[in-house]
Amino acid sequence: MKKILPILMGLVAQTSICQTTLNIVPEPVQIQMHAGSFKFGHAVNIATDQGTLHDAVMLNHYLDKFYKLTLKVKKASEVSGQTPSILLSLSRQKNPLPGEYHLEVSDSHVVINGRDPEAVFYGIQTLLQLLPPDSTAFTGGKGCELPQLAILDYPRFQYRGMHLDVGRHFFGVKDIKKFLDYLAWQKFNYFHWHLTEDQGWRIEIKRYPRLTQIGGFRNGTIIGHYPGTGNDSIHYGGFYTQAEVKEIVKYASDRYITVIPEIEMPGHSSAAIAAYPQLSCFPDQSTEVKPNTPWAGSRTGKQVQQTWGVFPDVYCPSEYTFTFLENVLDEVMKLFPSKYIHIGGDECPKTYWKRSEFCQQLIKEKHLKNEEGLQSYFISRIEKYVNSKGRQIIGWDEILEGGLAPNATVMSWRGEIGGINAAKAHHYVIMTPGKYVYFDHAQRHEEDSVTIGGYLPLDTVYNYEPVPRQLAQDEQKYVLGAQGNIWTEYMGNWNKVQYMIYPRMTALSEVLWTPKSERNWDNFKSRLPEVFQRYHLWNVNYYNPLK
Ligand code: ACM
Repeated sequence: MKKILPILMGLVAQTSICQTTLNIVPEPVQIQMHAGSFKFGHAVNIATDQGTLHDAVMLNHYLDKFYKLTLKVKKASEVSGQTPSILLSLSRQKNPLPGEYHLEVSDSHVVINGRDPEAVFYGIQTLLQLLPPDSTAFTGGKGCELPQLAILDYPRFQYRGMHLDVGRHFFGVKDIKKFLDYLAWQKFNYFHWHLTEDQGWRIEIKRYPRLTQIGGFRNGTIIGHYPGTGNDSIHYGGFYTQAEVKEIVKYASDRYITVIPEIEMPGHSSAAIAAYPQLSCFPDQSTEVKPNTPWAGSRTGKQVQQTWGVFPDVYCPSEYTFTFLENVLDEVMKLFPSKYIHIGGDECPKTYWKRSEFCQQLIKEKHLKNEEGLQSYFISRIEKYVNSKGRQIIGWDEILEGGLAPNATVMSWRGEIGGINAAKAHHYVIMTPGKYVYFDHAQRHEEDSVTIGGYLPLDTVYNYEPVPRQLAQDEQKYVLGAQGNIWTEYMGNWNKVQYMIYPRMTALSEVLWTPKSERNWDNFKSRLPEVFQRYHLWNVNYYNPLK
């Protein structure tokens, strides 16, 4: 709902109305407007309860970042009843929902009350959207009048995710932190970090230094749309040290975001194989380069890929590979506290396994049906290992083929059918269908820059319903939520990433947070002009579909 505010009385000089309309995204569950106002400005204190000091620090961090405004932080017991303050408090109500907060603005106080610090943090994000999208709103001692109101709010889905592929193009720590900021501002709580690819291995693994020394770099990249008009011949790459990974995980956790690492297997593994050829069923065979692929540098030996697509040289299901992957996962699980570890599982051609004597023998020995059965054996074996460390695997929906690993959560990307089948089999599901949430697809019919293709306009994202109609009532609970995916073949810089995600990610935030009954495209569209002003405040690039 777009709230038009009553005229506020008694404004003093240097004080304006903070917002003439409320345009909060994602739209809260319930907003009640009251008469009167609260003066927001330099004189306001932030009052903390037991457990909300971190939230107070974050609120001040945002006020400083957007407005160069820093408020005094005090314990609630030290703030007199007369002092205008923002009280951050942990709820004493019975059975609040996960993420539920109450935000109340009265004449002398703003109170944000949540069941835990995470819920209070969501209330803070809402409060920030009650302030003007103007970085000078508080300069020179200025303040503004917030309307008195009461907001009750909580998320619809427990999994509100965004993915980022750093394999095709690499983005440094600074950009990843910006990405986490974007997630936090719109109440996302999972960052799926796609860390290994054919075109680059991006995470330092101490036991296998060649993964980043060799696998972290390629000799060139195709120019233009696949298969490319040429090759730029630029040595390209990068990786995150383990210290940087820890820094990112902490930055995310400060914003109540869980980072899920993805270590791809058995496909999309060219970079790892270039570093350790024994991981291939055919270690001595050079990487195949198609005749129409513009290539830079050596064509012999195992190579990190320079073009996009799916490649046949995949992990061999040998004891060498399993030991390697277990050792890699040991280091990964030490760095990421996430319950979920994503193990990929998508787009694994079976051609090498078909002609490998070793694989054919293994299929016989293990009484598997075929190569799909071998993939299922591969994933199930890794799942057992990950489970033995107290974690759970997530895989792309191909892990359904040949039999689903017993405890796996499925990411449904090739449409909704994988998610439907997994939920019907009582497996948890995260919906990421290409048609609705692949933000690498074009936003307009006539593309204004090179993209992978497809067409995903804003209203299609906004109108996406993550719970498929085909699921019965008791099966719907297996849909944990949904996620927007950002594959970066055609996103060589951060500016382009921003352009591709905004405003589609904003639309998705409402799909994931707001009750289905409150979702309304026309209303969302009417809030977009202010959303765009807020993008300016956030200093992010975006596509404007209203132009
Ligand atoms: C995928 O888009 N290959 C999961």
